[in-house]
Amino acid sequence: MVKKIRKAVFPVAGMGTRFLPATKANPKEMLPVVDKPLIQYAAEEAEEAGVQSLVFITGRNKRSIPDHFDKAYELESELQEAGKTALLQKVQNILPPNVSCIYLRQAEALGLGHAVLCAEPVVADEPFAVILADDLIRGDGGIGALTQMAEIYERYQCSIILVEEVPPQETGKYGIVEIEDDDGQTANVTSIVEKPKPEDAPSNLGVVGRYILTPRIFDLIKETGRGTGGEIQLTDAIAELLKYEKVRAYRVKGKRYDCGNKLGYLEATVEFGLAHQELGEDFRGYLKRLSDSL
Ligand code: G1P
Repeated sequence: MVKKIRKAVFPVAGMGTRFLPATKANPKEMLPVVDKPLIQYAAEEAEEAGVQSLVFITGRNKRSIPDHFDKAYELESELQEAGKTALLQKVQNILPPNVSCIYLRQAEALGLGHAVLCAEPVVADEPFAVILADDLIRGDGGIGALTQMAEIYERYQCSIILVEEVPPQETGKYGIVEIEDDDGQTANVTSIVEKPKPEDAPSNLGVVGRYILTPRIFDLIKETGRGTGGEIQLTDAIAELLKYEKVRAYRVKGKRYDCGNKLGYLEATVEFGLAHQELGEDFRGYLKRLSDSL
């Protein structure tokens, strides 16, 4: 029987230097897009896909993440007393009761591969998801990227990596895959390389922040030396995994916003603002007026 994806790993120990000074005392995963922090979008996406344990790999300066998913007694009782029930519900229902949060500390920021390895004691021998919260994805038809990937996982029963076509001159920002047996939506990965220069890149299909991995990856990460940027790269361990198992690439049905950089973050803010139930219409009006005056 195919094992369900019950655990998702959120590497959140990074420094977020691209957003300094906003991220001096606050993690980048807590940056809000309209009214929810990036990490909450990621957690909701996992929960929608059936994940029951959220495993956060944290570091220094990340206390606000556990606080965000925790009960906020003072705030809740104040909202209750003030009769602000709608707001109270928003605060109380951040995660459903059947979802638990586990926090592990990555003492040294040695790279994404190392962060994922920190989750081994909790994940053990199950397939699991990895979500990079700064890749914010709006799935078509309201179907989240991880839900889509979990379906592909059930079909192929192997590791699944989310990819999208990236501008050829930007391959140096991504893990880049080479594929075969492409049906337009999914394809077999034949090789993967971390942040190649455009002239060395095997394609322009970039990895975008979602993985479903089989547990064999842990042993392979342990054997992975430091790679690009002097870090232990998940990409290098996946390249090893290819020697033993199939890995399938999946192109998301939806749109991805690179909230790890300022322009992508602003685009997400505008588009999520436009789609927002309460604000959308007013915001659209404002943007129209603004564009007329530009
Ligand atoms: C990481 C991965 C890279 C992937 C990217 C997606 O890089 O190492 O393979 O393409 O996330 O966002 P980072 O952006 O953390 O440098």
